Amino acid sequence: MPTPPPNIRRHEGVISRQDRERLLGQKGCVVWFTGLSGSGKSTVSRRAEERLTAAGRLVYVLDGDNVRHGLCADLGFSDRDRTENIRRIGHVAALLADAGAIVLTAFISPFRKDRQQVRDAVGQDFLEVFVDAPLAVCEQRDPKGLYQKARKGEIPEFTGISSPYEPPTDPDLRLPTGELSLDDCAARVQQLLESRGLLQPPASKS
Ligand code: ADX
Repeated sequence: MPTPPPNIRRHEGVISRQDRERLLGQKGCVVWFTGLSGSGKSTVSRRAEERLTAAGRLVYVLDGDNVRHGLCADLGFSDRDRTENIRRIGHVAALLADAGAIVLTAFISPFRKDRQQVRDAVGQDFLEVFVDAPLAVCEQRDPKGLYQKARKGEIPEFTGISSPYEPPTDPDLRLPTGELSLDDCAARVQQLLESRGLLQPPASKS
């Protein structure tokens, strides 16, 4: 983890995270979706976003394909670049959660140690969701035709084919997207947040 240059100190404002959360009537958190390409991370996170927004929540989705056009446009798919990708996203997600948003992230994030580092950075309001579709199912869906190219050797270091994926050992939620409907998946995400008390407005200051 890079360290900041000398003479850089953190500044704390007068307004606290709890103040922002009271204003929004929700608690900031990070719901981290992980899974193979084509497993359904983006689709489920977008449906969960719709569902939570309809329920009056401030939600923000960070998505692999979008972030790689900007914040992480300089990164490829080597192990090192993926680790850096997740490190940057993890910090952005932590900042948004500190602002009081419910952050949904949709990245393959193939390495356990990288996901653990984000958990460490975010703290207790980090929930890991394993979007669990077997490789064969993802390969059959192949929405972008990438698996076909990877099998032909046209895309090096493709997750599940020529680059590893380490599934979570103890996720907060597992979504077998091959067995559940999209709406069921989104409902389970909402239930997870409810069960952890994250949709409760914090107690107001007296
Ligand atoms: S991660 O491994 O660093 O977390 P990320 O989620 O940002 O990956 O990006 C994955 C998306 O990039 C895939 O859904 C796919 O569309 C595309 N992609 C392009 N090349 C690869 C590759 N070699 N491995 C996996 N995904 C790739």
